[in-house]
Amino acid sequence: MPFRRLQDWLMRPALDHVCALGPVMRQRQRLVPQAEGVVLEPGVGTGLNLSLYDAACVKHVIGIDPAAPFLDLARQRAETAPVSVELVEGTAEALPLEDGSVDTVLLTYTGCSIPDLEAALAEFRRVLKPSGRLLLCEHGRAAEPRVARTQDLLNPLWRPLAGGCNLNRDIAERLKDAGFDIEHMENFYLLPRPKSLTWHYFGSARPR
Ligand SMILES: C[S@@+](CC[C@H](N)C(=O)[O-])C[C@H]1O[C@@H](n2cnc3c(N)ncnc32)[C@H](O)[C@@H]1O
Repeated sequence: MPFRRLQDWLMRPALDHVCALGPVMRQRQRLVPQAEGVVLEPGVGTGLNLSLYDAACVKHVIGIDPAAPFLDLARQRAETAPVSVELVEGTAEALPLEDGSVDTVLLTYTGCSIPDLEAALAEFRRVLKPSGRLLLCEHGRAAEPRVARTQDLLNPLWRPLAGGCNLNRDIAERLKDAGFDIEHMENFYLLPRPKSLTWHYFGSARPR
């Protein structure tokens, strides 16, 4: 088994547990039902969003992730999902999709982990229809300077331990720089602590 695959296989139970904690699931329950039409879920992971799509609004979901062990679990969840789901091993930086073919990009807790976020955001713009929407629920760089400084200090230690997750990405700024207009954005600490991990970006953006 190649090293990366072994690492993903070992990480899978912890990731699946943390990503399914009650407060996290409540954010998913607010966000996922907003998806419409053909949906791209980059970094679909273990498929924790799949049961939450609204079958009346969603035509089809395409989930992409580089981690085969996560996709194995997502495949089990896809079997009971209320919508049709296609799962593909791949990366957000090189999407195997046509230009303007997607109505919704749904990004949850993945903008922190994609190695080349700029390239991925350019791909999201390319595959989204001009009327399309990016829905997001992410953790990232806190507004409080003291917390952001702590995130910068911890990040080099945290990233290798947490499968490439970055603590300090300013998701809203990255979206704007990549040519998205923010339509709606809520920022909050999901939990009182640890503040470095729980500053959230929740909202939607449209290609400019
Ligand atoms: C914290 S998990 C979140 C998974 C899922 N989106 C969720 O909400 O439960 C981050 C995910 O990003 C995926 N990921 C890492 N690099 C990626 C890339 N280049 N393209 C797409 N997904 C990537 C990981 O494999 C992992 O499944």
